[in-house]
Amino acid sequence: MPTRPSFRALSGLLAAALCVLPAAPPAFAASPAPVRAAHGMVVTAQRLASEVGVEVLRAGGNAVDAAVAVGYALAVTYPTAGNLGGGGFMTVRMADGRTGFLDFRERAPQRASRDMYLGPDGEPVAGLSTDGWLAAGVPGSVSGLETARERFGTKGRTDLIAPALRLAREGFTLSPGDEESFADASADLAKDPAARLIYVRPDGSPLRTGDRLVQPDLAGVLQAVSEGGPAAFYEGEPARRIVAGSQKGGGILSMEDFKLYRTRELEPVRCGYRELEILSAPPPSSGGTVICQILNTLEAYPLKDAGYGSAQGVHWTVEAMRFAFRDRNQELGDPAFVQNPVERLTSDAYAGAIRARIDDARAGVSEGLAPVSGEKPETTHYSIVDAAGNAVAVTTTLNGSFGARVVAPGTGILLNNEMDDFTMKPGVPNLYGLVQGEANAVAPGKTPLSSMSPTIVLRDGHPLLVLGTPGGSRIITAVVEAFLNVVEYGMDIQEAVDAPPFHHQWLPDRIALEPRALSPDTQRMLREMGHRVEEDADWPVWGEAAAILVGAPRLDESQAGPSDRPLFGAIDSRARAGAAIGY
Ligand code: GLY
Repeated sequence: MPTRPSFRALSGLLAAALCVLPAAPPAFAASPAPVRAAHGMVVTAQRLASEVGVEVLRAGGNAVDAAVAVGYALAVTYPTAGNLGGGGFMTVRMADGRTGFLDFRERAPQRASRDMYLGPDGEPVAGLSTDGWLAAGVPGSVSGLETARERFGTKGRTDLIAPALRLAREGFTLSPGDEESFADASADLAKDPAARLIYVRPDGSPLRTGDRLVQPDLAGVLQAVSEGGPAAFYEGEPARRIVAGSQKGGGILSMEDFKLYRTRELEPVRCGYRELEILSAPPPSSGGTVICQILNTLEAYPLKDAGYGSAQGVHWTVEAMRFAFRDRNQELGDPAFVQNPVERLTSDAYAGAIRARIDDARAGVSEGLAPVSGEKPETTHYSIVDAAGNAVAVTTTLNGSFGARVVAPGTGILLNNEMDDFTMKPGVPNLYGLVQGEANAVAPGKTPLSSMSPTIVLRDGHPLLVLGTPGGSRIITAVVEAFLNVVEYGMDIQEAVDAPPFHHQWLPDRIALEPRALSPDTQRMLREMGHRVEEDADWPVWGEAAAILVGAPRLDESQAGPSDRPLFGAIDSRARAGAAIGY
């Protein structure tokens, strides 16, 4: 993820030096103004993909049409996370009131088994679930995008794949932001012969600004899908080539796995926060359940009075996170394999029971926390609202940046390393440091538990906020914090996604901070309450939240409704390849 000197810190110093008084209402972060548009808004992590989405909207497509076209375009222009070889989730709220959630996440191959990543000593073998072909689950993106188009879209497949096909065939010139998104994976990509041909310069060095990325093999796959639909992918040459690559590279993917792949249509998890209704990702994501549990717990605390960035507010938020991640890591898994207690975990009664266990002045302890009775990760999120009021939130991923960092020869398709999201062994942390349990053990055909949280917030039955971010387990807490930044702390949508986050995930028992998220004296106060507080200096920018606020740039001016609804789009200012574009 891009790193830059702190724009906020520099601007703050400058403002102080010039004695510049902030305009009312006060800005909490030195963020640019959100992008305003009258009709439609597309916010993605790659500007060309945002342009593709806006063109679809301008041509009369709805938000889902735009989301499908953006999904294909990101597979070409944002290969760190956009994909045909991975999967994702889509939360949909149509203007007529219909809601939907599509699970097109990867499934474990039929030959997968519970202990497949353990060595003879019973311990996980380093790298086996993250690097190379054995890390790959069965890809779901083509099935998911086509299911979305058929269920909610209005445009033909060929129209929606055409922009991606053109970008793959004719290529595009890398911007500085694109260069940053390619930089850290190039050494690994250079080791895979098929990936090296695409993503690395002939001398093995990383692609640079101004280089042109042309992907003829990927164009061939897009052409095949455009002509033949999902069957051309799952039963045709792309699947055959991926399976051949897997067999050669020591993986276990088979044609049977591809034939069995189906997108699941589920209902979003729902909860309320004051007058707002939240729709988010159900299992096999933990996202919606954990977001609802945290927000239900927090709703009764006076966060606004405590103030943004206050030790007290952070303490309450962190304690709610501690309980919610404990439950996530122990109890949630693929709903086809385990009973997920979503209703209990998102109930008001459960939130009350958690609050009764939270000490207002002392940090809890994660180790032994009894249940209340009863390398760099990479994903990408995009948010779209159209002129009719249809809203779509999509989070898609290869898991790690560039996934397993292997390409199936002849396809241009990078494979995911999503298998690492399973529990390798109860008690052993995964790529995100998540310590998980049996509910998320590997099994054939099973979907690994996710944290992806494409979220839509409604007010008076109309979309108010569309939100999501990459960041592994930090997705959940970043979405909660961006929501609170808008709803409790009065930030505009750009400030809300730019504000540096904090995170607690039960284990390890610590508050992780994006650098400069909290002042040294706030950190000291939290330590005095018993918290371990650590800035993640080696991970300076955690997420790239992409959000749309409907009606006004900040909540207290908002007038969400069908007729008076300018749109305000924002992507984390540090996501240099990304753009919010409206019309
Ligand atoms: N691979 C990240 C997630 O699904 O949470």
